[in-house]
Amino acid sequence: MSEFSSQWLALREPADHRSRNQALREQLNQVLKDSRVANTQPLRVIDLGSGTGSNLRGLAPHLDGDQHWTLIDYDPKLIEAARSALSKWADTSEPASNSALQLTKQGKHILVDFLCTDLSQHIEMILEQPADLLTAAAFFDLVAEPWLERFCSALSTPLYTVLTYDGSEQWMPKHPADEEALRAFHAHQATDKGFGFAAGPKAVDVLQHRLLGYGFEVSIAPSPWELNQTHDAELIRALAAGSAQAVGETGLLDAATLASWKAARQEAQHCTIGHWDLLATFGA
Ligand SMILES: C[S@@+](CC[C@H](N)C(=O)[O-])C[C@H]1O[C@@H](n2cnc3c(N)ncnc32)[C@H](O)[C@@H]1O
Repeated sequence: MSEFSSQWLALREPADHRSRNQALREQLNQVLKDSRVANTQPLRVIDLGSGTGSNLRGLAPHLDGDQHWTLIDYDPKLIEAARSALSKWADTSEPASNSALQLTKQGKHILVDFLCTDLSQHIEMILEQPADLLTAAAFFDLVAEPWLERFCSALSTPLYTVLTYDGSEQWMPKHPADEEALRAFHAHQATDKGFGFAAGPKAVDVLQHRLLGYGFEVSIAPSPWELNQTHDAELIRALAAGSAQAVGETGLLDAATLASWKAARQEAQHCTIGHWDLLATFGA
């Protein structure tokens, strides 16, 4: 099981939210408006690998009207952290039946329920649930190609997934070990994160091609992190430490090179980390 701490997810949340591709999000809104013209029910959204609920906080304010979200994660600690973070984020929060939360935010009613389950096992069952939208943030690079095939063959709702890592990184100033370290990091990205060997930086390409094969219309748009020392010093340090740990676990860099690279990256002035957002819908 790959574990994500709620501290790391909180640290990356502001960068995640500002990096999302706005044009693609507007396209999503138009798709939902067109498909729900006479529908007065709350918008039904399922979020995969929801962590502490960052995707809801980033997306719900931009979607029209009342909403009903189901947040799915296999880590019970993150589900509890989501409950608390969402209650703090909302304008009002009340317990609802079945351990759900009834929130209001900027005049919208948002019902949130939680499901603690392993998506590597139960994705087909999840995809059978009625929904207007399936979504995920920073999730699809963890999954494996055979899982993506299972996922795409069972998908029958619009999909909007954001911030999938594409493997590209530019750090300033440069360090002589950058290329070697990035190769090692990619090797680590391709290890098993609970779904079989992870698609890692290939995930968006694979997802896009499989979805096209199943008759979806697919749009992708870049959502890179642009981080600098003035605004994101803590995130840069944590990112460099996490990357160095992953690189170290591969054993592909010697200890002295790794230590020098880590120290330089933690003090980097600027970095760009490539991500993509993807929207898949059925054509008219
Ligand atoms: C990088 S975090 C992203 C969390 C959140 N979407 C966000 O944007 O902050 C990936 C999330 O996927 C969850 N996850 C990983 N493998 C999973 C699995 N097999 N089943 C369910 N959730 C999983 C992790 O617990 C974690 O919360």
